[in-house]
Parts: sequence; C-alpha cells; structure tokens
Amino acid sequence: MAVLSSQAQPNEQACVPRHVAIIMDGNGRWARGRGKPRTMGHRAGIEAVRRTVEAAGDLGIEYLTLYGFSTENWKRPESEVTDLMGLLRFFLKRELATLHRNNVKIRIIGDRSRFADDIRDLLDGAEQKTRNNTRLNLTIALSYGARAEITEAVREIARQVASGQITADAVTEDLIENNLSTAGLPDPDLLIRTSGEQRISNFLLWQSAYTEFVFEDVLWPDFDRSHLEKAIENFAGRERRFGAVI
Ligand code: IPE
Ligand code: IPE
Ligand code: MG
Repeated sequence: MAVLSSQAQPNEQACVPRHVAIIMDGNGRWARGRGKPRTMGHRAGIEAVRRTVEAAGDLGIEYLTLYGFSTENWKRPESEVTDLMGLLRFFLKRELATLHRNNVKIRIIGDRSRFADDIRDLLDGAEQKTRNNTRLNLTIALSYGARAEITEAVREIARQVASGQITADAVTEDLIENNLSTAGLPDPDLLIRTSGEQRISNFLLWQSAYTEFVFEDVLWPDFDRSHLEKAIENFAGRERRFGAVI
C-alpha cells in the first residue's frame, strides 16, 4: 500500500488502498428526490465518475474499478436501457481524450457481445488508445455479472480438460483467477457501495473474498472526493487478517 502524499490528504498516517472498487448506486433515487426522470440521475452520475477518477489519481490509488451496468440491469425498462446506452456513448466520446491525457489506462470487463456495434467499437477503441498509460488503471464493469464471469471461466477450463490440454488436478485457484475477466488485476482492497444498500449485487464475487467493505449513505451523483477520502480513512483503521492470527 502506498502512503498518501501530504499534499493530497488529511491524515498523513493513513494508508491508501491499492485497488478501490465502487458500486455506483442511487442515481434513480437522486433524480426522484428532485422530481426528475431517472435519466437525469444517470447524467449526474457521469459527473461523479469524472470527479472520482480524478480524485483517485490524485490520492495515489493504482487501480479503480467501477460497476457501471450489471447483467441484471438489462432487465430494466427498455427506455431506461436506451438512455443508459446513450449516456455510455456520450461518456466514451467526451471523456476519452481527457482520460488519455491524464495517463489513465482503461479496461472494460463484462459481456461486450450484448452492446450495439458502435458501442463495442468505442469500448475497444478506449482500451486500445490508453493501453500504454500508467498513472491509474481504470476498470469499468459493463454488462458485468460475477456469476456469468465465473461460469465462463469454468466453461473455458472444462474445455481444456476435455481436450486433454490439462488434467483436472491442474485446476488451481491461480488457474481460475487467470480465466476471469480481471486476470492480472490485484484483488480489491476496499469496496465502496453508495446509496445505503448493503449488498454486492453480483459484483466481483471471487475477487472480493478478503476485501474491506464500506457502505456510504450518499447517493452516487453526490459522491465526491470527500466521500472517497472518508472511505479511505475508514479502511485505514481496519485490521486485515486474511484468516491468520495477528
Ligand atoms: C445506479 O443507480 C446506476 C445503475 C445501476 C445503472 P440506480 O439506477 O440503480 O439508482 P437507484 O438504485 O434506483 O436509486
Ligand atoms: C448494482 O446496482 C449495479 C450497478 C451499480 C451498476 P443495482 O441498483 O442494479 O442493484 P440492486 O438491484 O439494488 O441490487
Ligand atoms: Mg440501484
């Protein structure tokens, strides 16, 4: 874990988690509270994404993983899904240059086959353009579900066993990990969920085995640097034991 730079943070002793994952929840409730359509909440949520990526880079976080759209979110009313796809296009087109300029490396996890061709191209293009960047590893989970991810890994490993490429005994935790969409990323140290809900909603089930959870009451569109700092402070006070005795 890196120590926060004195310029960027309130508590010099606090340790910054290397990998922060966030379930960005509460856009709909934010809009409802203002008597606005849900889309307005999603739109405001994009600004929170921008603020959070900037703050994460400043705070010295190496990996930031954002849950943007789940496999189950496809079940929402068609009009909401259409609006979300429009916003995704808008975000990818508008933010890519800035993210690249800020040396952010983008990776997308989730089932890309369900997106329209033009969105798939934008996602591929964002990864391609930023592949050599080094400041912050930004992973965005889109059309992502951890059960689907694990199922796909099992399917791939089963194929390898069936074809005689590997034996059943060669199936290890490492092998499973290497077949997940997050292969190569460290496990999240801290997972934040906004909006007061206290559940994981099919996010990073395998990877979060020893992750510290922080639930914040703030609705995602209101999330800013101060909430991230507060969650990191909370994390810094945790004793992580990983099953051992300390
Ligand atoms: C999170 O906000 C964004 C997505 C899941 C796409 P929600 O849309 O879930 O907002 P609430 O939970 O209904 O308030
Ligand atoms: C989880 O939020 C998915 C994302 C934030 C992208 P949901 O709003 O879909 O989760 P539930 O339905 O409250 O569990
Ligand atoms: Mg929600």
